[in-house]
Amino acid sequence: MNIRVFRTPSDAGIYAASMVERVITSSERPVIGLATGETVLPVYDALVNLVRCGLDVSHVTTLNLDEYVGLSPNHPQSYHWFMREHLFSRIGTPMQATHLPNGVAPDLEAECERYNDLIRNHPIDIQLLGIGVNGHIGFNEPSHTLITGTHVVNLTPETINMNARFFSRKDDVPRQAITMGIQSILQAKQIMLLAFGEHKADIIYEALKDGIRTDVPASMLQLHKDVTVILDSHSAARL
Ligand code: GLP
Repeated sequence: MNIRVFRTPSDAGIYAASMVERVITSSERPVIGLATGETVLPVYDALVNLVRCGLDVSHVTTLNLDEYVGLSPNHPQSYHWFMREHLFSRIGTPMQATHLPNGVAPDLEAECERYNDLIRNHPIDIQLLGIGVNGHIGFNEPSHTLITGTHVVNLTPETINMNARFFSRKDDVPRQAITMGIQSILQAKQIMLLAFGEHKADIIYEALKDGIRTDVPASMLQLHKDVTVILDSHSAARL
């Protein structure tokens, strides 16, 4: 694994965005796997700047990792909303296509199949990942077993607590999500894992330096041959 430690999240975001730029400019039909969460915001800021400075993204397809079950695309806490707010609408020019799972699909199983087909038809060139404090990637939560493809997941109490900060009441946090599975993530040609802050130091150590464990889903990334880990000095403190 290639581990890079930056002074600030903003420096790290510029580096991550330049990796994405390299993929965008070197492929005719680039597919970028996108993530949500505070961690990826500096990456989106830097990408928006690159587009404003002339980076052409009209040929780019994006596929997001996950979405809450029960939140419509117009719900301000939905990941559809997050992506519009922080990336899509700021770019100011349409991309080829942007995809997220539909958390209000009437048939969630069919929705997972639809999303699996999309991933199959658009192999991901580079996947952006954050990490939950419990080691989840996307919404692949710690468990005895990890699921390969897109699926509906019950969120752990820890994840519900962590994500409650974005909702007015803890009871409003959805209990389920649709997430890309571990195999879909590992099939991306290249992966970038980002983490900032001391609250991520322990899980970064467990994910990268301990063995591979299903109760630390991010440790599966050790099986991939092209992962770049992008940290600040706080999240890298135990390495
Ligand atoms: C959410 C998302 C993950 C994200 C994680 C970390 O639960 N499903 O994809 O990596 O939170 O979020 P943050 O970057 O805000 O710490």
